[in-house]
Amino acid sequence: MALITWTASQYGTNVGFADDEHQILFGKLNKLYDLATGGAARSAIGEQLDDLIAYVVGHFAHEEKEMQAKDFSGFAEHKAEHDALVGVCAGLQTKFHAGEAEVTEEVGQMVKGWLDKHIPTFDMAYAGALNS
Ligand SMILES: [Fe+2]
Ligand SMILES: [Fe+2]
Repeated sequence: MALITWTASQYGTNVGFADDEHQILFGKLNKLYDLATGGAARSAIGEQLDDLIAYVVGHFAHEEKEMQAKDFSGFAEHKAEHDALVGVCAGLQTKFHAGEAEVTEEVGQMVKGWLDKHIPTFDMAYAGALNS
C-alpha cells in the first residue's frame, strides 16, 4: 500500500509547479518505501534513495528561487526547514551507502510526517506571494 497519497484537499498549495513536483516526489517516496519494505535488492533501494534525495533537493531549490524572486517574508524560516530535512537525508544516504543504516518503515514514516506538516504549514503559506 502506498505510504502517502496526494490529494488537493490535504496537500494542494494552489501553486502549479509545487503541486506537480509534490506529486512526483510522493511517487518517488512511495517507490522507495515499497522497495525497502518489500525486500528488494539493496542496490535497487540505494538507487531509488539517491533519486528521491536528488529530486527533493531540486524541488527545495525551485521553491526557494520562487520565494526569493517574490521577496517572500517567510523565506528564511522556510529554507531552514528544508535545510534540516536535507541534513537528515544526507546523513542517512551516507550511512546507507557505507552499509551502516537501512531504509526502514520508520524512515518512511518520518519523511511522511515531515511532509504532512511542511506542506500545509510552510508550502501553503507561500501561495499568496508566489501567485501575486
Ligand atoms: Fe514543497
Ligand atoms: Fe517547502
